Amino acid sequence: MAELISGKAISKEIKAEVKREVEALKVKGVTPALATILVGEDEASKVYIGQKVKTCEKLGISSVHHKLSKDVTEKELLDLVEKLNDDPEIHGILCQLPLPKNLNADKILLAISPDKDVDGFHLLNMGKLLSKKSMREIEESGMYLPCTPHGIIQLLRRTNTSIKGKNAVIVGRSNIVGKPVGLLLMAENATITVCHSGTNDLPSVIKQADILVAAIGKPKFVTADMVKEGAVVIDVGVNRLPEGLCGDVDFEAVKEKAKAITPVPGGVGPMTIAMLMVNTVKAAKKLNNIK
Ligand code: GUN
Repeated sequence: MAELISGKAISKEIKAEVKREVEALKVKGVTPALATILVGEDEASKVYIGQKVKTCEKLGISSVHHKLSKDVTEKELLDLVEKLNDDPEIHGILCQLPLPKNLNADKILLAISPDKDVDGFHLLNMGKLLSKKSMREIEESGMYLPCTPHGIIQLLRRTNTSIKGKNAVIVGRSNIVGKPVGLLLMAENATITVCHSGTNDLPSVIKQADILVAAIGKPKFVTADMVKEGAVVIDVGVNRLPEGLCGDVDFEAVKEKAKAITPVPGGVGPMTIAMLMVNTVKAAKKLNNIK
């Protein structure tokens, strides 16, 4: 029976660290501030933004929320981003994805100042991640790491899961999770395989994983027969079924085979929010030249 990797508990530790940093920054006259943008009425996005705003409040980070109609024009949204870029009181800017189809998400993300890009989605930050070879180089560059992939690395590190030399299989190739978590695991010296819906014989590829990251967006897609005995399983999926939330992994069956596994909810989700708080504090320091 697998050990449970509690993102809830580990994120609590990280948030306590962030809270102490926020208090120290306030003594220096700096209150970290995050601007959030939500366009339209996507129910899941509303929940995520609500959690982010609430967490800011708990940690003493100031947050300013901008709720825009789904009919907002690209120009109006770009004008808002520009205003936030120029506002010295705002350190981090987050535009919740997905955006309505009439808006070009790539263009909006590119408009956010790379110094305020606490999601790590700007091409400059993505490019930096691609160009660095080791975790040390990445950390020393002062760049923003995307929150979910960074949260996954923290889950592994803080449970003393060894990564070096391991086969890490990532199921899903999104820009938000699959690709960047692959790069981070490679920087941690794992041998990575990024597989996806077009992969031939996906089950046999998944079976090679010592560390398995499931981020394919299909409920209970990874079944016990696909998982190697003793694997560490990180489930990024958040799927809403009539009976409740479930991940991309068939948790009940896979927990009998894995060495360790994240639950859904209470696994990766809280880590994403914690790492956003880490990035917001980093942004406040960067923009105020505080080491
Ligand atoms: N949509 C799903 N995950 C994320 C995230 O981490 N950041 C933003 N901005 N949108 C998302």
